Amino acid sequence: MKSYNKQDFPVSEIRRFLEPGPIVLVSSKHRGRTNIMTMGWHMVMEFSPALIGCLISSGNHSHSMIRDSGECVINIPELPMAATAAKIGNCSGADNDKFKKFKLTAQDSAEVGAPLIRECYANLECRLRDDALIDRYNVFIFEVIKAHAPARPKYPKTIHYYGEGMFMVSGRSLNLRRYFRPGML
Ligand SMILES: Cc1cc2nc3c(=O)[nH]c(=O)nc-3n(C[C@H](O)[C@H](O)[C@H](O)COP(=O)(O)O)c2cc1C
Repeated sequence: MKSYNKQDFPVSEIRRFLEPGPIVLVSSKHRGRTNIMTMGWHMVMEFSPALIGCLISSGNHSHSMIRDSGECVINIPELPMAATAAKIGNCSGADNDKFKKFKLTAQDSAEVGAPLIRECYANLECRLRDDALIDRYNVFIFEVIKAHAPARPKYPKTIHYYGEGMFMVSGRSLNLRRYFRPGML
């Protein structure tokens, strides 16, 4: 095993190690207007019902749109959309129609009013399940009520954010199923 020469590390920068799954594009619709924001801070909370916790800052235009409509779609982009995702996360829907600005296709969802982004690899239609943590932490707990994804590729080339404008792209897959107890898979 490798040994590391470690130094004191600023706790305010630990996101670099823990930044979770892929960045996603959250699409919403409220009072006839659509919007998109980029989001990296999310976590899976339960298999069934399929629950996801998402941090959506109150400074974002999307915050009130999603809170008031109680719905959104979590869209998972692949590598070719990386620059678009960065740009979407650096402008506000208060003064931009982001679908138009970034030439993305707003497709009707099956179960929610928010449109899904056709150009993304997968789309998770979400309903706000619990708002108890919104005021305190800006954390929205959603239930995914419908999901759309292609059969292939099974493991998409997702984009992950380190912070400081730096991204990682998912690459190698490892099959370690042999180490898993059946109930843990
Ligand atoms: C890579 C990346 C990740 C981001 N992750 C989050 C996040 O997890 N939560 C959040 O509230 N904002 C996040 N943002 C910032 C929002 O996407 C940004 O404030 C956006 O402009 C909000 O759009 P809106 O005002 O139209 O809702 C992220 C931005 C980028 C570029």
